[in-house]
Amino acid sequence: MNKPIFHITPESGWMNDPNGLVEYKGAYHVFYQADPEHLVNEKIGWGHKISYDLLHWEECPQALFPNECYDRDGCFTGSAVIKDDKMYLLYTGHVNQENGYIETQNLAVSEDGIHFEKYEGNPVIENPPIDTTMRFRDPKIWEQNGKYYVAIGGESKDKCGKVVYYVSNDLYNYTYCGKLADSDGSLGNMWECPNFTRVENTDVLIFSPKGLGKEFPVSFESGYMLGTMDYENKKFEHDAYRTLDYGFDFYAPQVMECGTRKILFAWFAIPDSIGKEMKDGWRHLLTLPRELKVSSDHHLLMTPIKELEKLRTKTLDTTLLNKSWERKVKNQPLELLITGQYKEVCLKIEDENEQILELAVKKGNITLKQKREEWQQRTCSYQEKNMWKMQIYMDYNTFEVFINDGKYVFSSRIYPNETLRFMIDVTSSDKDGRLEMYSLSL
Ligand code: FRU
Repeated sequence: MNKPIFHITPESGWMNDPNGLVEYKGAYHVFYQADPEHLVNEKIGWGHKISYDLLHWEECPQALFPNECYDRDGCFTGSAVIKDDKMYLLYTGHVNQENGYIETQNLAVSEDGIHFEKYEGNPVIENPPIDTTMRFRDPKIWEQNGKYYVAIGGESKDKCGKVVYYVSNDLYNYTYCGKLADSDGSLGNMWECPNFTRVENTDVLIFSPKGLGKEFPVSFESGYMLGTMDYENKKFEHDAYRTLDYGFDFYAPQVMECGTRKILFAWFAIPDSIGKEMKDGWRHLLTLPRELKVSSDHHLLMTPIKELEKLRTKTLDTTLLNKSWERKVKNQPLELLITGQYKEVCLKIEDENEQILELAVKKGNITLKQKREEWQQRTCSYQEKNMWKMQIYMDYNTFEVFINDGKYVFSSRIYPNETLRFMIDVTSSDKDGRLEMYSLSL
């Protein structure tokens, strides 16, 4: 199976959540949950890659290994921050016990962004707050008015998902501030991987609720709440929860703070995903980097970063699109871009043997149907009168579609064989709709 070329993949073994996303001394650093020696998450540490353009990624030595008494069963998810020219990683140490586990928050420091030393006084946050169970992990750190805040995912004693937060002046000593947000029980029993960030004057809490009920089409997903944080009165006033990505393989997103630019990567899998590349000695990858914006109707938008346009190598097609279009191409890294004003759009993809995917924008709904073990589908309701933009990125065995500037996004793994046949039918509202198809290379 071909390995994706413009996504972050592990050299070998297992990969899950993106961790420690940070810009440092001119480079973008992406760490991730890694077990390079196994195809399952047996001995989790932090893998590490760096890039100067968010397109080409260089492998660095593994940054953290699970080798201390407080992290011996895993250096779990965490984040990074730069202070006084040093890089600090704050992560969860996971230790299995006979009946359950212990999770503490720990610090590692680096002066070059490559070699890390765990702090000898670890853990820096030893116990969960009194009303939180031992499920207490994934610290995400951010700076606000010269202080460092940390959001941590958890579960309340009555088994509802929640996010709590702490404050620190020096990154070594932390004071508990209370909850950032919690659930009444209708949104899973544990909220993993919280992120707190600010996008265009709006505070945003992103997290991955786990253990969702039957009313959700999938048991794992990731979503967000937009609102305003009152740091003085310790209160985050927020809107209702919304799903961030409607695909079948999107989890544990993390945001990289690049000044006012906020760039999100996610694990391109959920804990149930298979990852058919296992036979080739690696398993799972990260999604494309996406830039976050807030729309005028108060939705979080995810658009593929502009840099990706540099990958366009050959124009495979460019044409007016106001009825239908068909094209057979070799399975290769591709971008498909549709612009115009459309009432309805239906895209079908077949490989040599059969149809593998259908995406329909129609009558207030967007539906993705995919042939996986069996046919599966996910739908989101759709508010605009017209679809004006659909951008699709495919990288041999990935499918990411961004509709209307990233208001509706679906990320899914696909496993086609050698050829792809695209069939598109549209009902257009103007005569100037266009389709462009590019082959991509690094
Ligand atoms: C999310 C997660 C995190 C945890 C990590 C362990 O996928 O379960 O909550 O820190 O993976 O690898």
